[in-house]
Amino acid sequence: MQRPLEISSLSKTFDTPTGPHTVVKDFNVKIQPGEFISLLGHSGCGKSTVLSIVAGLQQATLGGVIIDGTEVNTPGLDRGVVFQSPCLLPWLSALDNVLLAARQAHPTLAAAAQREVALKYLNLVGVAEFASSMPAELSQGTQQRVAIARALSLEPRFLLFDEPFGMLDSMTRFELQDLVLELWEQDRKTVILVTHDIDEAIYLSDRIVLMTDGPEARVGLDLPISLPRPRDRRMASSNADYFRLRAEVIRFLDHHSRQFNREAA
Ligand SMILES: Nc1ncnc2c1ncn2[C@@H]1O[C@H](COP(=O)(O)OP(=O)(O)OP(=O)(O)O)[C@@H](O)[C@H]1O
Ligand SMILES: [Mg+2]
Repeated sequence: MQRPLEISSLSKTFDTPTGPHTVVKDFNVKIQPGEFISLLGHSGCGKSTVLSIVAGLQQATLGGVIIDGTEVNTPGLDRGVVFQSPCLLPWLSALDNVLLAARQAHPTLAAAAQREVALKYLNLVGVAEFASSMPAELSQGTQQRVAIARALSLEPRFLLFDEPFGMLDSMTRFELQDLVLELWEQDRKTVILVTHDIDEAIYLSDRIVLMTDGPEARVGLDLPISLPRPRDRRMASSNADYFRLRAEVIRFLDHHSRQFNREAA
């Protein structure tokens, strides 16, 4: 029986030339297995900091991340990460980029079987036809699909996304949101999505965790999104619950940016 992922009393302080800067303080979230949560907040509040600590790419100053009762502070094959920029190695084909991860996850498989794993995930995200293309030959959206295939080929329990659609045009963003939703419906991995985009967070998530503005950002509002699934993008223009949730998120963000501006003045 899998247990929740716990972000527990997490604080992160950076040493800066002007002294210590505490970005997040006493940040607590419990994420159930198979849950899809979004982390939403103003730019600079500390979303990426929290996500990178969950990914094990940065260390907490106090508190930490607990998976199955054990504190994690290094990257692991149980956590696949996708960033805003696809970060593919430019000298390797799409397939070879995905193969790097497939080999890490399946070190004992024969080379042909590792290739099968990589191809399976390229196929799943709809870009098998570009397997032998180099990243520079691919559109941003296709590169990001390859990056998602690379994360999936780790066969991780957790998918961690840091604004994965932020650099895409709106039609491509919609396509990739639908892809992520479809993938999640298929095997219900636990997902943490960092985003600025309110509609994206409502469309995809079971729960939106809204962060207060930093410094010392914490969870300001934990908002369940109880809209029925499968979701339909058209609900954004017709569903009263959708409007209510959207208004609640905007009220929160608006209040916090005004408070922040007052404090900064
Ligand atoms: N290595 C670092 N050293 C010092 N300060 C840092 C460091 N990394 C991040 N910060 C600061 O921590 C704060 C939070 O940064 P972070 O990137 O986590 O925010 P974010 O919510 O992801 O922002 P955005 O929405 O713009 O991506 C910012 O004020 C940033 O300047
Ligand atoms: Mg960020």
